[in-house]
Amino acid sequence: MTDIRFHINGKEHIVPGNLPLTTSLNEYLREQAGLNGTKVMCKEAGCGCCAVTVTNLPADSKTLETYSVQSCLTPLYAVDGWQISTVEGIGNQSEGFHPIQERIAKFNGTQCGYCTPGMVMNMYGLLHQKAHITAQDVEDSFDGNICRCTGYRPILDAMKSFSEDAHIPGRKSIDIEDLNKNLCPKTGETCPGTCSGRSLDLKVNGACWYRPTSLEELCNVMKVNNDKKIRLVFGNTSSGIFKNEGPFEIYVDLHQVKELFWFETLETDVKLGAATTLTHFLKRLRGHQEKPGFKYFSQIHKHIKVVANVMVRNSGCIAGNLMIKNHHNEFPSDIFTTLEAAGANVEVFDVKTSEKQTISLLDFVKLNMRNKVLIAVILPRLAEGIVYRSFKITPRWQNAHAYVNAAFKIPVEEQVIQGRPSIVLGGINADMIHATKTEDFLTNKSLSLAVVKEAYCILRDELVPTESPLESSSKYRKDLAGGLLYKVLLGICNSKSQRLQSGSENLHRPVSSGLQTYQEMKSEFPLKHAMPKKTSPLQASGEAVFVNDMPKFQHELFAAFVLADEGSATIESIDASQALAIPGVTHFFSAKDAQHNEFPSPLAPRLFASKEVLYNGEPLGMILAETPALAKEAIQKVKVTYSEIRSPILTIEDSLAQNKEFVNRRKTNVVGNPDDAWKSVDQIVEGTVSMGSQYHFYMETQVCLAVPSEDGIDLYASTQNSDNCQAAASHVIDQPMNYVNITVPRVGGGFGGKSLDSCTLAAGSTLGAYLSKRPVRLSMDLSTNIRSLGKRPPYKATYKAGFNKDGKVQVIEIDMMMDVGYHEGSSYFTVYSLSYMDMCYYVPNWKVTGRSMMTNKRFMVAVRAPGSVPAALICESIFEHVARALNKHPILLKELNLYEPDQTDLSGHVLKNCTVRELWRRLKDTAEVDARIRQVDAFNQENLWKKRGITMTTCKYGMIYFGSGHGATVTIFARDGSVQVSQGGVEMGQGLYTKVAQGVAHILGVPIENIKVRPNQGIISPNNIVSGGSIASESSMQAAIGAAEILKERMQPIREKFPDADWKELCQKSGASKVDLTARFLNKHEMGTPYCNYHTYCVAVTETEVDILTGEFQIRRVDIMADYGESLNPMIDVGQTEGGFVMGLGCFLTEDTLFDGKNGRILTDGTWNYKPPTTKDIPIDWRIHLLPDTPNPSGVRSSKATGEPSIALSVGGLLANKMAVENARKDLFDKDDFIPVVAPFTVERTQQSVGLSENLLTL
Ligand SMILES: Cc1cc2nc3c(=O)[nH]c(=O)nc-3n(C[C@H](O)[C@H](O)[C@H](O)COP(=O)(O)OP(=O)(O)OC[C@H]3O[C@@H](n4cnc5c(N)ncnc54)[C@H](O)[C@@H]3O)c2cc1C
Ligand code: FES
Ligand code: FES
Repeated sequence: MTDIRFHINGKEHIVPGNLPLTTSLNEYLREQAGLNGTKVMCKEAGCGCCAVTVTNLPADSKTLETYSVQSCLTPLYAVDGWQISTVEGIGNQSEGFHPIQERIAKFNGTQCGYCTPGMVMNMYGLLHQKAHITAQDVEDSFDGNICRCTGYRPILDAMKSFSEDAHIPGRKSIDIEDLNKNLCPKTGETCPGTCSGRSLDLKVNGACWYRPTSLEELCNVMKVNNDKKIRLVFGNTSSGIFKNEGPFEIYVDLHQVKELFWFETLETDVKLGAATTLTHFLKRLRGHQEKPGFKYFSQIHKHIKVVANVMVRNSGCIAGNLMIKNHHNEFPSDIFTTLEAAGANVEVFDVKTSEKQTISLLDFVKLNMRNKVLIAVILPRLAEGIVYRSFKITPRWQNAHAYVNAAFKIPVEEQVIQGRPSIVLGGINADMIHATKTEDFLTNKSLSLAVVKEAYCILRDELVPTESPLESSSKYRKDLAGGLLYKVLLGICNSKSQRLQSGSENLHRPVSSGLQTYQEMKSEFPLKHAMPKKTSPLQASGEAVFVNDMPKFQHELFAAFVLADEGSATIESIDASQALAIPGVTHFFSAKDAQHNEFPSPLAPRLFASKEVLYNGEPLGMILAETPALAKEAIQKVKVTYSEIRSPILTIEDSLAQNKEFVNRRKTNVVGNPDDAWKSVDQIVEGTVSMGSQYHFYMETQVCLAVPSEDGIDLYASTQNSDNCQAAASHVIDQPMNYVNITVPRVGGGFGGKSLDSCTLAAGSTLGAYLSKRPVRLSMDLSTNIRSLGKRPPYKATYKAGFNKDGKVQVIEIDMMMDVGYHEGSSYFTVYSLSYMDMCYYVPNWKVTGRSMMTNKRFMVAVRAPGSVPAALICESIFEHVARALNKHPILLKELNLYEPDQTDLSGHVLKNCTVRELWRRLKDTAEVDARIRQVDAFNQENLWKKRGITMTTCKYGMIYFGSGHGATVTIFARDGSVQVSQGGVEMGQGLYTKVAQGVAHILGVPIENIKVRPNQGIISPNNIVSGGSIASESSMQAAIGAAEILKERMQPIREKFPDADWKELCQKSGASKVDLTARFLNKHEMGTPYCNYHTYCVAVTETEVDILTGEFQIRRVDIMADYGESLNPMIDVGQTEGGFVMGLGCFLTEDTLFDGKNGRILTDGTWNYKPPTTKDIPIDWRIHLLPDTPNPSGVRSSKATGEPSIALSVGGLLANKMAVENARKDLFDKDDFIPVVAPFTVERTQQSVGLSENLLTL
């Protein structure tokens, strides 16, 4: 056999077996089939943007099945005989959009649109699995799809609108004909699936792909190839975790080995084929969980529902998971933990002897599985009276592996343990499976408080967690394991006291909901109309083109950066000869090949390190090759020798200790007379606040494509700052700026990360194209992107606040240190942070100092609201601290100190139209804050081990019209009156194009459908400032309005001549009268003094609940009220608010960046370890209100900027969680302390702040 055959969107694809056997379905779709609607980002099954659905006939079934998978890990050769549906196949602009695409667009579920195809296809798969879905089904099925822009609420609403039970306006179930879009080309009917199932035997470049159809065939393949490196493949999802296994000589696809797919209920057990997917396993468990002896299946069901994500569960099987455990004993396999505790066995087939063996999982995990196949798992019937519970404690709610997982099987009668319990723990160390000493101790024990305490201590003592910078602390894992044991024993003892029983229960997350209220200004429609983005349908159908979707140019080369693997070192030599010896690898370029390797300010400092390496991950050079895979292979072969390797400086503390402050950048603001003020205050608090870094996590990683033209370079960039990119690109090759012709088709999320760092890619790809004279595509993989480029700076602040007994804060002093990385360029963020430090609180005396500390990290860059985020954390923390000292609720304390209109703020602005008190009053009322404070208090009194916190936070965001402004060119086509706009702002999801179109439509008085906003191009919109700081939408719209007004004025004489002409006639007559129907306008705004044009205010109430024993938490409810003036588009502005808030939750609660202390390498360089929020990390009840009747006299069309302010509000999540912990500490230790603020306040940090010990346990 020499080819494989399958259908994509109903069309047969015959692929001659010449593509490497490691080719993924995603690579085939995007690189061979030209189907770029399906996106790609992490390539590790962690983000979901690559989702497609597959339809096939499982080996044990007569019914076809359709389900969603991650195409990035699905091997191409596994899909022989399958039907694939991609996002463009289920609906598009020419054939009509699919209802899922229509709904996600209508509900404003797209911003940058990079995640959208994955969302659509995951939903398409879900509806195939279950056409009649509930809102709960929807919420449980989006655990593997990350969206960095929207905050998920509108996506969930769009998807829930297909459910039977959600209260969503526009709800309608799916029509069945919308599910089977792709008919079999042979029969003209829905695919019967008869094509799948044939055996395969293919050879490519000396490696083989087999697809046996029976165990016998499988044995033959394995026997014949006994001496080779064999890989059995099912879902191939494990390669998302362990990426460097292989290459293999033999791949054996198990999908058609019938003996691996069966299900049997016997008298004493249930037996499942080892190739049962986790999704099918869940169905089997659910089907049996009511049967006597199998009630524990409900616990395992609940646990496996949070293993990986829905698409991994659809494609990955039980054997695959258990084999990971077999190969990597340290892996915290949830399947292993839950099954081993239950006493499950496995059946293993020995290929050499053709014998089956039933063994325990304990034996399996140590078994050498070479020449063996896992056939089945056998789950026992358990006697009545056995308590079975399992736990998985993770850094975020879903799609995260466990800090620690645990399962307990305890035979018990009236609080007496009958025989030996089974206690299994994962995540401790490679050898740890059973807590044997604790099991010994508890055997036949009668449960009493003393026994529980002793068991807790024995368990903690017998655990020896592996120490690793990527693992949670050893102490946490011990405490956690102890806490989980206590939970189980508490449940068994079934105390009558709810206060105690709160420890036994897990947090329960109900289905989430949202409410949005806003005012529209009908008189100005379509401006100020709440409408979804114009391009959302194209984003939803995958037809929106991102840079990497552009077709391959002839002779195109692919570039990959070679990164430093030391954090501070001197380079002795770089030898790329081995890399260049690989056929298809064409070039290696480094600093010496650039005409100018160093850039002038304000660009990135340099392209490649030349002598001194300043951080681990710094680009040292660049390989060019014929394919991305070859480029990736080649960079591993570039040998870098260092003459001196030094210990990298990675923390602010180390930098301080080594005197590495950029002293010239120190800045102090003094307001009032702080020295005097200290003398008259009643009380003083002092404390520290620190926060870590944050990666932007734009879903489209950085990419640039440079194409030599006849007289220059055409550069296609994903950037927020085309001007910077053009300047860097021309500088590196020593050419004038007009040599580089730049286009920004669209940007898949920026959040500040594509303003400065994209220069590096623009310069790199241009250098490559210039020197090689071939098109060069530089598209970063996730790890390279995280390791080599900038992030949000970490901060550490010490503060001192003086206040009076009445709660009025009189004076604050702050010494804030910012980790700027290796270069001082980003020091200016300290200026922002210092000037935002007061947030919405009036304090008459301030002394705030900002210091810039050098470390061996990439220079830091802007990440959404770079100044406000640290300022909010520091300022709100100080006010909470003061409240604690005065024993007042922070909400009441903060209210006392809010700005009044016309007061002067920390930076010297007179707050003329300050609405913060109005927002606060209204929100407190609408969100019933007083009553909820009482409810939270009551809850906390009734529960010892679950605690709640509620707080309010504020943001005063100073909007600065910086730089030269944006320009726009508007053209009216005389023949038909259609309108085209090109402008200097970059659309990266914030709805800029839509607002621009709304403005132009309003001025010209034409329907918005008449207007197209074209991508940002240097040829027509040059000399633009960065699209950042929240101003680009306003500024670009104002420019477009200016140009439209010019055109209107030019056409006025014609209008007067033909008052009754319709728009088309008017344009035709204007054209005929030689009116120039193209106009350009530069929005030359004036910068406000001092450095601020107006303030955007918003306020939030956040209520959370914490499990004190584990540190897990959930955001129960958030209410936000924002003053956006007269919102230019309330739907988009609500979207910005939600997206910003959730990004902030990530910053303050889950996103931890970890380093290897020895060499400075970032360890959290992928989705396995870096955890931005997912759908279940958002508030359960989320209400957003835009303040009505508040025109902004200083903003564009009375509006305000909305992109960044809301992120600062989410510090409330951290503070409410901390408050909950402090409440527990009061109960447990009778302490009224204020825990130092550390962000992210992860699950681990939350629990560790409690200070649990056996003495605190009660029954
Ligand atoms: C993003 C992500 C998140 C995850 N989160 C979790 C988690 O939270 N908890 C958890 O427990 N797991 C988690 N996993 C692991 C996941 O459960 C496994 O990747 C999956 O079950 C593997 O199944 P597969 O069919 O894809 O195996 P494959 O990747 O196809 O195979 C895995 C290994 O098993 C071998 N193998 C497969 N079948 C057999 C067989 N029948 N006999 C012998 N060897 C065989 C293969 O040769 C290979 O070595 C996660 C995985 C990903 C990608
Ligand atoms: S690219 Fe496939 S899941 Fe991220
Ligand atoms: S819209 Fe989801 S990542 Fe941008």
